[in-house]
Amino acid sequence: MTSEGVRLDGMGSQRRTHGCGQIGSAMVGEEIVVAGWVHRRRDHGGVIFVDLRDRDGLVQVVFRPETSNEAHQRAGDLRSEWVILARGVVEARSEETVNPRMKTGEIEINVHEIRILNSATPPPFAIEEDAEADEAVRLRHRIHDLRRPPLQRALTVRHELARAMRNTFDEHGFLEIETPMLARATPEGARDFLVPSRLQPGAFYALPQSPQIMKQLLMVGGYERYFQIARCFRDEDQRADRQLEFTQVDLEMSFVGVEDVLELLEILTADSCKETIGIDLPRPFPRMSFADAMDRYGCDRPDTRILLELTEMTDIFAGSEFKAFRGVVEKGGIVKCLPVHDAEEISRSEIDRLEKFVRKELGAKGLGWVRVDQEGEWRSPIAKFLSDEEREAITQRSGAKPGSLLFFQADDYDRANAILSRLRIDLGEKLGRTDGREWDALFVVDFPLFEKDEKGQLGYVHQPFVAPLEDDIPLLETEPEKVRGTHYDVIMNGVELGSGSLRNHRVDIQRRILEIMGYSPEETQKSFGFMLDALEIGAPPHGGFAFGFDRMVMVLAKAESLRDVVAFPKTQRGQDLLMEAPSPVDSEQLEELSIRIRATAPE
Ligand code: AMO
Ligand code: AMP
Repeated sequence: MTSEGVRLDGMGSQRRTHGCGQIGSAMVGEEIVVAGWVHRRRDHGGVIFVDLRDRDGLVQVVFRPETSNEAHQRAGDLRSEWVILARGVVEARSEETVNPRMKTGEIEINVHEIRILNSATPPPFAIEEDAEADEAVRLRHRIHDLRRPPLQRALTVRHELARAMRNTFDEHGFLEIETPMLARATPEGARDFLVPSRLQPGAFYALPQSPQIMKQLLMVGGYERYFQIARCFRDEDQRADRQLEFTQVDLEMSFVGVEDVLELLEILTADSCKETIGIDLPRPFPRMSFADAMDRYGCDRPDTRILLELTEMTDIFAGSEFKAFRGVVEKGGIVKCLPVHDAEEISRSEIDRLEKFVRKELGAKGLGWVRVDQEGEWRSPIAKFLSDEEREAITQRSGAKPGSLLFFQADDYDRANAILSRLRIDLGEKLGRTDGREWDALFVVDFPLFEKDEKGQLGYVHQPFVAPLEDDIPLLETEPEKVRGTHYDVIMNGVELGSGSLRNHRVDIQRRILEIMGYSPEETQKSFGFMLDALEIGAPPHGGFAFGFDRMVMVLAKAESLRDVVAFPKTQRGQDLLMEAPSPVDSEQLEELSIRIRATAPE
């Protein structure tokens, strides 16, 4: 019985014969059994129409008293999201009642028997293509959200993609091998999630940030070609393209060079895109150096469909009267420009809005701009500070002409680039300055091996096991900051799909790199001892890669956020609103783990 006093049925001997979305005109006259959720119910006096929904789609089932009085009566109780099973005959709809918007719109099912399998409380929002509900409401009611078509499509793409990639791995001789979740802290650079050990009080496992070390150990162990669809855990600030736990398609290969890995990555990416969403990515993928990507696009994951490009202008301002810019250059910063030609449609108020946006959201110090009007005059808050030579140099380098609008950033290298690369994308999309391609896949290569931190200490750019380019090995002794790594990224539509590199299989080079990064022999032994030992027992040359699987699905499904392609995602604040995790635990549980909670949270 439901709370409304309606009788619930078992399935009895009835079994579903067809998915709702599969039924078409060819089946007219057949008796079938369908099952699913009441999507919509309309009571037209004598006749009740129900759109019945299952994973397959929607079909209209009709309850007429003259077909079955009992079924018709019971259908009167149905409400949204109740679960039913219906046996009936497929009938063609009359011409005027055909619904061309519905895949099954030419037919309906005239129901002889209904079984009410379950009732349901009213849904918090309509189970439609567009749910008009806040994301927080949708996350709290994730199960209803999962019933909506966008999530169904995204999770289907997820499945198809995993299957396609597994097939390619299999064809290329890879073994799928699992690695532990209860592991040791790894050096990907994010904060670890720790798991207290009951058996070793005071000691902790770390959930893997990636299977990096373990896959390298598998290579030393002789497996040659490994892959895994692996869960990874990183306690870092959440963004649209970051989750605390996410999935990598992780791979590692022995006896390979960069070209071998890139070839496989191209096959994996192109084949799986073809199989999941039917697109042909042109091969070979274009390659761009890190330096080129930063110069022209201001970021290491350029969307090259957008035609706008940045221009370097630091030297022009090095001796300028314009103190705001010269001051930045004197402190080691840069000045860069984003020229937008034929930009009359960007109004003054739009420029002010952009300035507010970059100041507030991106931490900009300002937004310098120059508009060249039809007479060639410069309308600009910064023009008055510039000499004729400077104007000439800016015009030369930016290609400025009547109608052009130039945006400037003077700031440290990272911020100036980050701000202009964001403006490039926003303005490029808004003004339609794109080359019209729907998909853009490329490799970014030749990353530096090291970067300097604020204190001038060299640290790794990607992770500490990346091998240098062979030609650059001698530079480790002389100019380590100039050493390029074998690191490569796959970029699709401006999203970093994944990263990889060749690894150091020679222990002397690995030791030297750790030394350059400031690790003392003791620290090296403590953090990397077992890894270095492994390199001494016959480690083959090896390299690999990891795709961010969720990001790949996000790009292929054209979703805005990883939360739209993960069944049970976490919020920006790392919460699962459905299961209400994280949550406090019983004091007995803490006691067993030898853990005491401080009364106040740490600062
Ligand atoms: P990396 O740290 O670059 O490399 O990670 C590889 C890819 O994983 C995805 N990714 C994420 N996706 C969602 N949420 C996150 N928080 C998140 N962090 C990373 C990205 C990224 O490109 N072991 C190396 C790979 C290797 O060298 O083989 C690694 O983990 O798409
Ligand atoms: P000010 O001299 O501070 O009035 O700045 C003149 C113009 O330059 C204003 O439009 C500011 O937004 C812009 N501006 C100031 N500092 C910077 C900077 N570091 N980068 C880009 N534009 C700036």
